[in-house]
Amino acid sequence: MKNIEIFEQLHYRVNELYERIIADLGEKHYSIVEDFFNPKEVVALRGSLLKLYEENNFKKSAIGNKTNEEVIKSIRGDFILWINEQQANLAEKIYFDKINALVEYLNKTCFMGILQKEFHYAVYPKGTFYKRHLDTFQNDERRKLSIVCYLNDASWQNENGGELVIYTENGEEIINPLPGKIVIFESQVLEHEVKPVLDNKRLSITGWLKTR
Ligand code: OGA
Ligand code: MN
Repeated sequence: MKNIEIFEQLHYRVNELYERIIADLGEKHYSIVEDFFNPKEVVALRGSLLKLYEENNFKKSAIGNKTNEEVIKSIRGDFILWINEQQANLAEKIYFDKINALVEYLNKTCFMGILQKEFHYAVYPKGTFYKRHLDTFQNDERRKLSIVCYLNDASWQNENGGELVIYTENGEEIINPLPGKIVIFESQVLEHEVKPVLDNKRLSITGWLKTR
């Protein structure tokens, strides 16, 4: 096969994936892609997360205007670190390249009007969770789409807990946080929850695609 043909075929497959995501969002307000990031990419991103975590760069997460630590802890227990795209390291560049390609496609084909993005690493230590919520909880109605990407080890077991539960009209979708998987959902529409982590720590990047 000629290079140009290989390129076109790859391009076609990527567009097919984007089209599936768009169709899912239209039908049910969320989409799951099992292997959006390949194992090498996940290893690089996990390495970057763990290095920053071990250097004590992460902060206890907050909730809107709430300041009482006990109250916050009863709602969410994760630790986060915001990522600056302008200062992205090599692994983060791979992440942003893929996410930005998707965003560009969404803007071009669906006129989504995504102009701003924000992303943070998250670590849920054993015993922590995030109670059922909407992402507008953060008082930010510009948040249109939430994107979560899981960076757990390949040895992650479903028994470790930490499932993402999305509440839909028809019931619950229970999603195990397996490495490389991304979940995209409409931030203003779908309530969701992170079940308690029963073993190990749960690693991810969460992001929001925002309109102006
Ligand atoms: C959040 C969130 C889901 C997840 O950070 O707001 O709901 O699966 N995360 O980590
Ligand atoms: Mn959320």
